[in-house]
Formats: sequence, structure tokens, C-alpha cells
Amino acid sequence: MEIHPFCKECLSKHKKWKLIKDKVFLINNEGEPTIQICNLIKDKIILSEIDKEQFDEKELGIIDLLYDPLKWAGVEFKWAARWYQKTMLSCSAYRKVNRIGRRAGKTETLCIKMIHYAYTTENTTSLVIAPYKNQVALVFDRLDVLLSESQGVRASIKRNTKNPYRIQFHNGSKILGFTSGTRTGSKSTGIRGQDAHAIFIDEADFLGESDFEVILAILASRPDCHLWASSTPTGKREMYWRWCTDSDLGFKEFYYPSSVSPFWTKETEMLEKSMYSDQGYGHEFLAEFGEEAEGVFLNKYIDPCVRKYTIGKIARNSKSMYTIGVDWNSSAIGTHIVVTEWNQELNHGNGAFRAVEKVIITQTEFTQTVACEEIIRLNEKWDPVAIYVDQGFGYAQIEMLHKYGLSNPKTNLVQRVKGINFGDRIEIRDPATRKMVKKHVKPFMVNLCVKRVEDGNVIVPESEDIKHGLVGQMRDYTVVRRTAVGQPIFRDEDDHTLIAWMLSIMAATMERSDMVRLNTVPHIAIGGKLGEKLDGNFVIDRKKIQKEKREGSAIVPRWPGNPQNLFAKETTLKTALDFQTDRGRSKKKKSATIGDLRRGRQRVGKRGRADY
Ligand SMILES: Nc1ncnc2c1ncn2[C@@H]1O[C@H](COP(=O)(O)OP(=O)(O)OP(=O)(O)O)[C@@H](O)[C@H]1O
Ligand SMILES: [Mg+2]
Repeated sequence: MEIHPFCKECLSKHKKWKLIKDKVFLINNEGEPTIQICNLIKDKIILSEIDKEQFDEKELGIIDLLYDPLKWAGVEFKWAARWYQKTMLSCSAYRKVNRIGRRAGKTETLCIKMIHYAYTTENTTSLVIAPYKNQVALVFDRLDVLLSESQGVRASIKRNTKNPYRIQFHNGSKILGFTSGTRTGSKSTGIRGQDAHAIFIDEADFLGESDFEVILAILASRPDCHLWASSTPTGKREMYWRWCTDSDLGFKEFYYPSSVSPFWTKETEMLEKSMYSDQGYGHEFLAEFGEEAEGVFLNKYIDPCVRKYTIGKIARNSKSMYTIGVDWNSSAIGTHIVVTEWNQELNHGNGAFRAVEKVIITQTEFTQTVACEEIIRLNEKWDPVAIYVDQGFGYAQIEMLHKYGLSNPKTNLVQRVKGINFGDRIEIRDPATRKMVKKHVKPFMVNLCVKRVEDGNVIVPESEDIKHGLVGQMRDYTVVRRTAVGQPIFRDEDDHTLIAWMLSIMAATMERSDMVRLNTVPHIAIGGKLGEKLDGNFVIDRKKIQKEKREGSAIVPRWPGNPQNLFAKETTLKTALDFQTDRGRSKKKKSATIGDLRRGRQRVGKRGRADY
């Protein structure tokens, strides 16, 4: 029997894969065959003479067509595989793993395989697993598109639902879609307990360890279960990496960079390279594992920021701006406070954020009170523009500080101390598009600091470049997982000084940077002079503001007929607004009696809207 050239090459690469008759087995250290790897690629189905006699010429042709996913997809969906998709689809390995760059056609290949498998094999269950719901949706949408091409395959479907994702065939086979658990925090409950003959995982490297546990449990109960995992590598050294690299596990790896795609051009390459970091490009388009997953802050950017100076020994500079960040914790961990200076003269006049003081209050009887006292002292010492406090744990303390600020107005603590809730979202204006965008506070803060570090706008002391120091924590900071909507969840142990430092950097940005200054313009506008120009793009126009307010309060009933005849514009809310404006103009701020108030209201009503 002729062995396919692809199989020959594969066998020569995998020393522990042995051909026994026409099947390939994994050989253990004793030289005994263990699990079956594949059945070798056969271009045609091999039938015994007895079988052949049962079918006529036409039927044999159909059997041949059904046997080969490439031919079948060509006829049914008019789908032509690319050369590497041909290899992947022809390969008969039970366990396959794709390490392929973006947009090369990974998902497409999985879709063809799963629909072919379900269509041609009776009573089987195929599971489709992806980390996020929209990826599962993408697979099922792609399946729908393929199905729309073929009346024949469509006719073989009994039910096709989206919630849950499920395609059921008349032959008893079904394709079920699941999102993995760790991303959504549900621990793969949907997948648990499923029996499967084939498992397809898209974006496999974005799954968590506990998802793999569930998947491996299914595999264990059915050794001949097909498994096909597909992903671009993230750089993590976890299960997907092991499947790709450890040939003892019996996985056939397909590795192609994005450039194999016929749609890949020099222009695409340039565009993508400009948008990704070197490391990101390596993962996403070259499909390389790269270095062991680096942290949030890359070492190569941290190193130039580390300078020799003694934290706590720097005197206050009246030209600099100071901000304080506080991470509040239980007394065992302690409260971490970092004071950061923005000094325009540093960094050859480009300015830099320099950490100037770090205080950790821990293990005392009155940690929280001592911490408050310390903040009051630091406030006096540095006169910062803002003090950002992690609200989660320090809610009562913020109140305490505000209370102190109220009785000691000179400290400005009421204005300065701001509680930041990491679960919240904040609105900021995108400096490029000038649109308001909502961002989750924590990723926003982290990104902001990463950018500052990458731009070299940060100075941190060498003495903190130790395991639990500020710089050490920076080096150890990683994304542990992502939520269902793709938000990163950061490692939350041994990050307290770092959090305090990041809060202080965020404070400086929020209080004094372009991004937010634009955001606060509307508030300044109301107090400004009529027509006063703040900058080229923003003209304060009180009339316009009033008009917008009025229009915003108009309720337009959706009745048929001529809209002009409706009383839409006359609402009580609007009368109230007019009344407020009118009263604002008059000197008398308060009505002395009910009668006074009524008269005022009537006056407004009679005068109508002439003022506007
Ligand atoms: N054989 C093919 N013939 C025609 N178009 C194809 C083929 N394979 C893939 N495509 C098209 O290429 C595009 C990318 O395919 P697909 O989404 O499967 O890639 P991917 O590698 O999963 O991408 P991503 O990395 O973004 O998940 C899609 O528009 C798909 O329809
Ligand atoms: Mg895909």
C-alpha cells in the first residue's frame, strides 16, 4: 500500500509514532503500542469485495464522495479548501491541534469538519467549545451559511436552534455549542457530564485550566473521541502549549503562520505590524509561542524606568504636581500608600512620574485609623492635587477623611480624597475621536500605567526592584484570565503597592490631562460667559444648552395625525424648567408663602416661552 507523502513526513518527524499494519500507534518507553494516533490518509475508501458487490457503480460513487470531506464540501457547499486546509481535513488523527495565525481559516476548517462528521456518522455528539459566546455564535453562523448553500444537507437537519446552540440531524447526530466556564466563572457546568464523540475547540489557548479538566474527563471516558483544538498561541505555557509541543501526548500539530493565506499581502503585513507589538505580532500572525508569557508590564520597558535614588528622601518641589494613591486592605496585608510626583524637569525636560514616598501600615491595633492619620500627614507634607483611594475596602475610611476635611477645610481633603471602585466604569473622551467611551476602571488604569511605562515617563527606585517591592510587583503582574466580554482579570495577590502606585498615576491623569479636561468642559461652560471661547472646538452657548434641555424634556406622544396640533411641547416638566429659570433671574430666591409661589408659577405660564 502506498503511504501518503504527508503521512510519511509525519511518521519520520514523530519517532514514537509507529505504523502497525495500516494504523499508527503511540509507543511507550517499553516499545509497546498505547493509544492509536491515526489511520493514515487514504484518498479513497477501501471496501472489501463483499461490500463492493452490495452497491452499484453510482452508489459506490456516493460512498466515495461522502468519505472525503474535501470532495463532499466541494460538491455540497461549493467550498474549495486551501492547500493547508486540505492537509488538515485529510489527516485522520484522532487528536489534532492547530497553531495557526489570525484570519488563515481556522474556524472555517473546523466548521467543515464538524458538519461532515455529523452528516456522515450516525448517532454521534459533537461538542463545539469556545471561550466566549460570540465565538460559539460565529461557528454556528458559519454553519448556517454553509447549510444555506446545500439543500441536501439542509434537508437532513431535524432541528437547528440558537439558544442553546444545537443542530440535530435526522441520522441521530447532533452538534452542540458551549462557552467554556472559567471565562464566565461558571466552571464549565454546561460541558460537564456531556458525552461526546468529537470535540472541537476554537481559540483553545484562551481557555482556563479548569475547562481543560472537564474536557479531559470526557476524553478519558471515550478514548476514540476525536479532539480538534484550534487557536493562535497566547504565549501561556498551559494545556494548549503542551498539546502542541509534547508529542508523547499523541496530538498532531498543524502549524502555519497567517502568511499562508492567499489573502495575505505585504500591505496587510505592514498594517498589522504597525498595530501590534513585536510580541503580539509573533503570537497572532506568526503563530509563535514566543517567550514564556510576559507580564502586563514588559521587562524591557520596566528596566529603563528603574533609577538609583532613595525613596522617601526627596524633598517637595513647588513646581511639581503630587498625587497619592491608597490601596486599603485588612490589617494583615496592610494599607499601602504611594506618593507620586509629576516633575516636568525630569527626563531631559520631557517630564516623568517619580515615586517619591511609599508607606505601608500593617499589623497595628488600629491599622485603619493610623492609615487615616498617615494620609492626613502626607497630605500636609506633599499638598497633592488628589488622593485616590481604593473604595472596595476603604469605604468607611474615605468617610472618615471627608469628615476630617469638613472640620479642617484648609486640608482640602473633601475635594482631594476620591474613592475609586474598580468594578465601576468611567466615561472618558477618546482624544482621537472626541467621542465619549465607557471603560472599566481597572483595565483603564492598568493600560494607562502600561502606556506611561512604555513611553518611559516613569521613574521608580532601584531599591524597590525586589520580590515584593513596587518594581517586583510590576514584573509579576499578569492577566490571569478574561471575563465573558473579554475584560482582563489581573492577578490579585502581592499587588498592593502596585495598585497604590497605579492609583496615584491615574489620579494625575484624571485631574490634569487632556483626556479628562475635555470631559469636564460642560461643567465649566455653564458658569462661563455667554459665547466665551475655551478652545477652537468648544464654544459655550447658553442658549443652545437651554434649548437642548427644553427639547430633552419634551414628551412627544406617538399618536397618529398631524404632529403640529399636538400639545407635545407643553409639559409640566417644561413649565418647571421655565419657572426655575425665571426664578434664577429674579432676586428673590425663595417664595415666602404658598400664594407667592403660585403667583410666580402663573406668571411664567402667562408669559409663555417668549424668552427662549
Ligand atoms: N477555503 C476557503 N475558501 C474561501 N474562504 C475562506 C476559506 N477559508 C477561510 N475563508 C475565509 O477567510 C476568512 C477567515 O476565516 P476564519 O474566520 O475561518 O479564520 P480564522 O483563522 O478562524 O480567523 P480568526 O483568527 O480571526 O479566528 C473568512 O472570511 C472565511 O470565510
Ligand atoms: Mg476563528
